[in-house]
Amino acid sequence: MKATREISRFAWRCYRNESMAVRWLMRLRPRICPLEIVASAVPEGARVLDVGCGGGLLLAWLSSKHILGEGLGVDSSARAIAIARNCLSDKSLSFEVLAPSDPWPIGPFDVVTLVDVLHHVPRGQQRAFISRISGTAAQKVILKDLDPLPRWKRWMNALHDFIMTRRRVYPRRMVELVAWFEEDGFRVTRCERVDRLWYNHYVIEAQRDCAGDGGAS
Ligand SMILES: C[S@@+](CC[C@H](N)C(=O)[O-])C[C@H]1O[C@@H](n2cnc3c(N)ncnc32)[C@H](O)[C@@H]1O
Repeated sequence: MKATREISRFAWRCYRNESMAVRWLMRLRPRICPLEIVASAVPEGARVLDVGCGGGLLLAWLSSKHILGEGLGVDSSARAIAIARNCLSDKSLSFEVLAPSDPWPIGPFDVVTLVDVLHHVPRGQQRAFISRISGTAAQKVILKDLDPLPRWKRWMNALHDFIMTRRRVYPRRMVELVAWFEEDGFRVTRCERVDRLWYNHYVIEAQRDCAGDGGAS
């Protein structure tokens, strides 16, 4: 819980130029979502593409801990990117709006992170969304999402997201994601459930099977 509290306090300072509502949301985010687990899986010096970066908290935290080589955050929400740009002035960070149909940046990147993005992608587009990771040539993927089981937690998660975004969500089972990564030539090195409050998180780390050249490993 120490890291969670630290990220929470860090978020409160980082987003001081924003409204109280945004500051509180960013402060509470690490209490709900195990960002510290995702952060701890990023190798030192890594060039990271954070897809669906929101306000950029994960990249900002990694940068403050001197873990990050470079970080690019992309998000389909112009508002989220505006918040990231308004609050995070670190030279190693950049943020871009990316429409869901736009190609992903090519990099080079060592790591792709996807934190709570997949369940916002319509079900029929999720398989292709995951396959886009291969196009980045990153050696490592860290994905954190929400499992649809047990059902009561799924409804609690759906309610949370509906209140926050007024949109439906499409959580996908961890076992299916593991199978997709393996089909795409990744070796899954970690897949674990992280229960926090009523949120049924899971974290997957996957490594490209054949080692590429250069970059953090
Ligand atoms: C729950 S927020 C998570 C934000 C951030 N990753 C975090 O953990 O704090 C989900 C984010 O994914 C973005 N998003 C949803 N679909 C996307 C897509 N197809 N491409 C890029 N971003 C997307 C949303 O705009 C939103 O900012």
